[in-house]
Amino acid sequence: GEDQRLQKIASAIRVIPNFPKPGIMFQDITTLLLDPTAFKDTIDLFVERYRSKDISVVAGIEARGFIFGPPIALAIGAKFVPMRKPNKLPGEVISEEYSLEYGTDKMEMHVGAVRAGERALIIDDLIATGGTLCAAIRLLERVGVEVVECACVIELPELKGRDRLGDRPLFVLVEG
Ligand code: PRP
Repeated sequence: GEDQRLQKIASAIRVIPNFPKPGIMFQDITTLLLDPTAFKDTIDLFVERYRSKDISVVAGIEARGFIFGPPIALAIGAKFVPMRKPNKLPGEVISEEYSLEYGTDKMEMHVGAVRAGERALIIDDLIATGGTLCAAIRLLERVGVEVVECACVIELPELKGRDRLGDRPLFVLVEG
């Protein structure tokens, strides 16, 4: 059943204490990728949820949204749009700044990758403070795309990132 799949996914994610700095418990999805059954179950759970939701865009956030997003996009018949770190995309871009613990970062999307009125799903591996997903939402909404839902493998609920997404729904598989 679904609970058993979720349990196997949760136990395939490795937690590495004090990475990348002291006090951080890093949720490492590379061990999930080493388990083909758990990796496939992860993709399948998203595909089952989104296949009949009329989604034409899967937007994946660099870096680990590039691992989970494309197989979901292919399975539901949507295009894949990468949301990238600054100065990586070669064409004309729009960008959004977002705040990190120290300083700010930027996210960029190609102009012309999406059209006003399209329905998008945003994919990342993890939501912590929610700042990254918020920047992706802003990029898509600026060009008139409807964000149907944000989906992550892992949520860190203590950081309350969910509260920053306003009324866009967030779906997660496991809590870290
Ligand atoms: C991690 C994670 C999310 C983001 C979530 O990426 O993969 O993209 O942080 O954090 P937030 O909810 O507080 O915004 P990271 O910033 O480590 O970048 P990377 O994917 O390039 O390693």
